[in-house]
Amino acid sequence: MTLDPKDWDAFRASAHKMLDASIDKLANANEGRVWTPLPEAEKATIQADLPIQGKSTDEMQKQLQSFLPYGVGNTHPRFFGWVHGTGAPSGLMAEIAAAAMNVNAGGRDHVAPVVERQVLAWSAEMMGMPAATSGLIVSGTSMATIIALKVARDQAMQGANGALVGYTSEQTHSCVAQAFDILGLGREHLRKITCNAALEMDISALKAAIAKDKAAGFMPFLIVGTAGAVNMGAIDDLESLADIAADQGMWFHIDGAFGATAKIGQHARARLTGVARADSLAFDFHKWLQVNYEAGCVLIRDEAAHRAAFSDRPEYLRGSERGLAGGAFWAVDYGPELSRGFRALKVWAHLKEHGVAALAAVIDRNIEQAQYLERLVKASDKLEMLAPVPLNICCFRYKFDRDCDALNEEIVVRLQESGIAVPSTTVLGGHMAIRVNLTNHRTRESDLDMLVEAVVRIGGELET
Ligand SMILES: Cc1ncc(COP(=O)(O)O)c(C=O)c1O
Repeated sequence: MTLDPKDWDAFRASAHKMLDASIDKLANANEGRVWTPLPEAEKATIQADLPIQGKSTDEMQKQLQSFLPYGVGNTHPRFFGWVHGTGAPSGLMAEIAAAAMNVNAGGRDHVAPVVERQVLAWSAEMMGMPAATSGLIVSGTSMATIIALKVARDQAMQGANGALVGYTSEQTHSCVAQAFDILGLGREHLRKITCNAALEMDISALKAAIAKDKAAGFMPFLIVGTAGAVNMGAIDDLESLADIAADQGMWFHIDGAFGATAKIGQHARARLTGVARADSLAFDFHKWLQVNYEAGCVLIRDEAAHRAAFSDRPEYLRGSERGLAGGAFWAVDYGPELSRGFRALKVWAHLKEHGVAALAAVIDRNIEQAQYLERLVKASDKLEMLAPVPLNICCFRYKFDRDCDALNEEIVVRLQESGIAVPSTTVLGGHMAIRVNLTNHRTRESDLDMLVEAVVRIGGELET
């Protein structure tokens, strides 16, 4: 019994059809609805009995093709929800090559570790970190954060007396508290420091919290700065945080999921110099750098500390000088996963094919578009801003004189259900905001005009 096709020509024909359908989807990404919920009939074709006998490749191809319209919608230019990257057609090719090779990138001597190391070296260069910086390509910033904080924790535990405590801003993404939980540090030992009017971590409140904890016998070990907070894009004063961490002998981690990548552009570069001072940095390729899901990165300045936190290879994983068990870089020495796919390939190919200059231009254009949207909101007597726009996120609301939160939430749902646009919501200063995130290389200014017109129209309908 083999799982190879009985007829390779028929397989080739089906695979070509799948490729054509995928390319057609992307070539027409600017058209049609943004989000289309999966119809019940389509759901029923998924929720079937456990298949005992298989189907033909052609039947499978047809079914896979039938799923194409029902994704999140983030390939569309009017997808503005959460922080989703758009991806790029070029991702198809690397994914096909990776699937054909089917490598296990956990270690050994083959193409994947060489590619991964190169991507890590380019990443360190983009972020201004030293060439010897260590790292790993991971699923996303959540995993990158767990890895980084484990290294920080292990280092701090060496001389610990007292419970370890860390500090971050109230605007930090929930993945930081989750990492504290997973690593056994305890969520309660992550201090959420208040923010200033720009929603950046308040530096004097941070200093006071560290002093208070020290006096109470805790051991402050970590500061987590944010480069681009998820709610509205705030960038903490990273240079000051790096100074405090250095002064106090603490680890400085940066959550730069999307914001740190703006370092390659012009508009936000000056506010991101502190990224280069991180002991560890988590960021994503799948957000503002437009690599197809999923691809994130952790960078760790101290390679020895990184290795010490994860490397524990028993006899069956022993390396050798020669043969397939050779190779200088085994990913398993730097993270919790042994078996892993060839994520680094699509990142490497994406950077090679598009070049940093094009990716930087997308980032700068999105920042300009967020400011353009802010101007549209300010020009409308029906709308009001709910936060400053430091980066690529614009948070505003329709001015209702009753049920303002519920009605703004209703506007967002109607936009999504109508297929016109997909913003998301968040709460800022206790108010429900329509939140427009721009990490989308397909968005045009006309898409933002259309969004604002639709918000004002739906808001008007809800007023009556
Ligand atoms: C600032 C920030 N940190 C962390 C994350 C989590 O990243 P991921 O979804 O790649 O795990 C996000 C996701 O949007 C984010 O915006």
